[in-house]
Amino acid sequence: MLEKLGKAEKAHTLRVLEYIDKDRDLDSSLKAELASFALVHDIGKAITKPSLAFKVAKVLFRLSSDAHCIAGCRAVWHLTHDKKLALRILKHHVKPNPDPFLDAFQKYDDKA
Ligand SMILES: [Fe+2]
Repeated sequence: MLEKLGKAEKAHTLRVLEYIDKDRDLDSSLKAELASFALVHDIGKAITKPSLAFKVAKVLFRLSSDAHCIAGCRAVWHLTHDKKLALRILKHHVKPNPDPFLDAFQKYDDKA
């Protein structure tokens, strides 16, 4: 499914992974968990395939991008039945985020 991500989404995922990897303040188990999540957090974009026009409008008008969160949550739930992972994908853009893991993850996602 990851291979269906667009070039920009793959590059974003790699940048998130790079920021996580370079953070020396993270303990190894949290780093591993964040890196695993980074690989799948935007998997819904493989389904929604946002157009270039939408990406531009999203930045210009600060539009919400919830569609890929919902699509990713559904896909991961159907493939794995991992409720925790599916819900994290669903809520990975919620701010402020009550889940400390997602709150930490957003730091890398927003930077990338
Ligand atoms: Fe996202």
